[in-house]
Amino acid sequence: MTDTFTIAIDGPAAAGKGTISKAIAAQFGFAHLDTGLLYRAVGARVLAGVEPIEAAKTLQAEDLDRDDLRTAEVAQAASKVAVIAEVRAALVDFQRAFARRAGGAVLDGRDIGTVICPNAEVKLYVTASAEVRARRRFLELTGKGEVTSLETVLADVMARDDRDMNRAEAPMKAAADALTIDTSELSIEQALQVALKEISALRMP
Ligand code: CDP
Repeated sequence: MTDTFTIAIDGPAAAGKGTISKAIAAQFGFAHLDTGLLYRAVGARVLAGVEPIEAAKTLQAEDLDRDDLRTAEVAQAASKVAVIAEVRAALVDFQRAFARRAGGAVLDGRDIGTVICPNAEVKLYVTASAEVRARRRFLELTGKGEVTSLETVLADVMARDDRDMNRAEAPMKAAADALTIDTSELSIEQALQVALKEISALRMP
C-alpha cells in the first residue's frame, strides 16, 4: 500500500512498548521508529562531552547504531536531555516525516500521540505498575550481562517516570483519544492481541 497510516504508542519506561511496536509493525508491514533511541543517542553523546542542544542538532544515523544505548546510564542521560525544549524541537521533523512515510509507520515514545502525531490514526498508551516494569527491565538488562539489582532498576524507572511526567515540554501522558493497555497482569503476547484488535477495528471499520 502507498497510503500513510500512523500508529502512535506511548507509555512509561519498560512498559513493553518496544516489543509491542515491533510486533505490530511486522504484522502490518509498517516501518517502526523507537523514538526513545533518538533521546538515548543524544544522551550518549552528552555523556561523551557534547553539549545537549548541539548533540541533538547534529545527530547522525550512525549515532543510533551505538551498542551502549540500552544501558541504564544512557537511559538516565536520555531523560535528562529530554526535558530541554530545544533538544526536543531538533528531533521533531525527523519523527513527523517518518510518521507520514508511505506504507504506514509505528512510532513509540512518550509524546507521539500528544505532540508528534496528534492526528495519528491509532493511539495506544501502554503501561504497567512500576514493579512489573522494573522486573521486566531487570531481566532484560541482566540477560544482556549488565550487573544491577532489582532495587536499582526500580529506582531508575521511577526517577525517569517522574522526570518524564513532570517536565514542562511534551510531558509523558496518554492522549485524550488513546486506548490505554495496562500490561501489569497481561503477558506481552496478550497485550499485543488487545492492540491488534483495536488496530484492525480502526483499519477496517
Ligand atoms: O525503553 P524505555 O521505555 O526505558 O525508554 P526509551 O523509550 O528508550 O526512552 C528513554 C528516555 O527518552 C525516556 O525516559 C524519556 O525521557 C525520553 N523520551 C522522550 O522524552 N520522548 C520520547 N518520545 C521518547 C523518549
